[in-house]
Amino acid sequence: MDDSSSAFAHTINALRVRVDRRLGDLLLPAEAGPGRLAEAARYALLAPGKRFRPMLTLLAAEAFGAADGAALDAGCAIEMVHAASLILDDLPCMDDAGLRRGRPTAHKVFGEATAILAAIGLLNRAYGVIAADTALSPARADLAARLSHAVGFEGLVAGQARDLADRDRARSPAEIDLLNHQKTGVLIMAAAEAGAMAAGAPAAAIEAVGVFARELGLAFQIRDDLIDAESGPEAAGKDTGKDAGMTTLVTALGHGGAAEAMERHLDAAWAALDSVGVGESLLAHYARGLFEGRKAAA
Ligand code: IPE
Ligand code: IPE
Ligand code: MG
Ligand code: MG
Ligand code: MG
Repeated sequence: MDDSSSAFAHTINALRVRVDRRLGDLLLPAEAGPGRLAEAARYALLAPGKRFRPMLTLLAAEAFGAADGAALDAGCAIEMVHAASLILDDLPCMDDAGLRRGRPTAHKVFGEATAILAAIGLLNRAYGVIAADTALSPARADLAARLSHAVGFEGLVAGQARDLADRDRARSPAEIDLLNHQKTGVLIMAAAEAGAMAAGAPAAAIEAVGVFARELGLAFQIRDDLIDAESGPEAAGKDTGKDAGMTTLVTALGHGGAAEAMERHLDAAWAALDSVGVGESLLAHYARGLFEGRKAAA
């Protein structure tokens, strides 16, 4: 590692630590109860994930010159939504998964009822955090509206419904793109846009960041589907093989075709950042780094 890449790794790690600390502070202590509810919420939220979405928020804020810390709570709120979506995604009535972030899934540890209530509590807390976020002012209402769209009936919830419906029916690549965009892409868009909004970036810049994140989100779900098809649970830290029997871009296009589609989305993502002069930002380097090792030839 040369000096600049070790400084980059250090910066990224420091931001992740900051996110983790703030996430912990934004929730009630585990012993707050009632029963194991607060403990379950903390278990799911603070488990060792990548913190990809809050990192996008913080780095998009940095790219557009936000004051230090201006996007921290916004990023944490989005990570709460994400953690809630993972609890629900793993339930027996959904993907029926036993492992998440290298640990037993929330419902395995706390039971289904407590896991569902913890997910609803996290989702609800996310909006409370945004409402109270004076650093984000005056963008609070705008972010709440974007997040509501990202989670709701044209976003994550709709995407999950599409994912679960008629799983054994063949899907066209266009249908899969819509499904992937809704279940995964919209929240990633909201995460990156939140950072640009916290920086007070002009509307054209927020829009370009949205295009970047839309493309990144599509690439991210292809990456996830490649991991599901080709890695084991130890490497992935979660159940794999869960997409078996369902048409994803990996089954529709084959490994090579899916990897090429991922590269096309990534090229469009980098072009969007270039278009607003942040193609060499920490944001761009961080996002590129996540896809290293999963190139078309991999
Ligand atoms: C997993 O998201 C769910 C998808 C949308 C593919 P991540 O891969 O970001 O999971 P964590 O947060 O690192 O555990
Ligand atoms: C889930 O997609 C996207 C969510 C909204 C959580 P997956 O079902 O592929 O996510 P993983 O592989 O379980 O993390
Ligand atoms: Mg799923
Ligand atoms: Mg799943
Ligand atoms: Mg998956």
